Amino acid sequence: MSVFPVILSQDKFIHRDSLKFPVEERALQFGDGVYEVIRIYKGSYYLLDEHIDRLYRSAEAIKIKLSQSKEVLKGLLLELLKRNNITEDAKLYMQVSRGSAPRDHIFPEGVAPNIYAYVQSFPRNLSSLKGGVSVITHRDMRWENCYIKSLNLLPNVMAKQVAKEHGCYEAILHRNGLVTECSASNVYLVKDGKIFTHPTTKNILHGCVRMAIERFVQELEIPLVEEAFLIEDIFEADEIFLSSSTSEITPIVSVDGHQVGDGKPGTITRKLQVAYEKDANIQENLIANV
Ligand SMILES: Cc1ncc(COP(=O)(O)O)c(C=O)c1O
Repeated sequence: MSVFPVILSQDKFIHRDSLKFPVEERALQFGDGVYEVIRIYKGSYYLLDEHIDRLYRSAEAIKIKLSQSKEVLKGLLLELLKRNNITEDAKLYMQVSRGSAPRDHIFPEGVAPNIYAYVQSFPRNLSSLKGGVSVITHRDMRWENCYIKSLNLLPNVMAKQVAKEHGCYEAILHRNGLVTECSASNVYLVKDGKIFTHPTTKNILHGCVRMAIERFVQELEIPLVEEAFLIEDIFEADEIFLSSSTSEITPIVSVDGHQVGDGKPGTITRKLQVAYEKDANIQENLIANV
């Protein structure tokens, strides 16, 4: 997977090999920052405004004030695609830290945040999208402010690694028996024609793809119930699926080794995948051709 050579550092475009951080950088020492991952289809961002809005919301929640306005940042991100002549499917990673300063837990004064962004090519995972994935369940060991897209991802990393070690794609996280989300995606259960998912409290990230799904269900007239479900409910579900910028809308066909529904991606999941492809202006129309 190739990383494009020009990256954004503060408001400058530089070669990726010239990015340097001081030893005392707060993202490195404290994970003191926030980030975004944005999907790009054939050289165009998908859900760009939603991601930019969330970046500013996350930054504000941890009292980081970005140096540039949303409009300026958007312009820089668009320019980044041009400078790299990107016309393919790709993804952008962007992070903002509180800045570089002598190590001290207390916020440094008069220090500007550090921001950088780069793009790497990222083809769609057609086999997962078509055939679905297997997942495990895992205790949600994260803090109480999961609505902030913070750089502190250790519990997410640990849970996803356990999933990998079980030959699975993701880990469905649960707190006190209730399903919150996955380690790097939101999760949904379908029962009797209704979609259930955790409400957007502080315990989950309000995914940008979820925001798109909230639009799709209105058009498709599918009820979306923002109510947390139990781990046990999974084993009675008709369909389960997950959503994220990297995974799009991916069917889940097995949980902890138990088949979900009839073991195939469900009808509602498929309808949402079709709506996603239309919304993201994806030409291949993969799902319609399944
Ligand atoms: C914990 C978590 N939940 C949900 C999501 C989905 O968010 P989005 O749809 O904005 O990619 C992500 C994405 O990285 C995530 O890390």
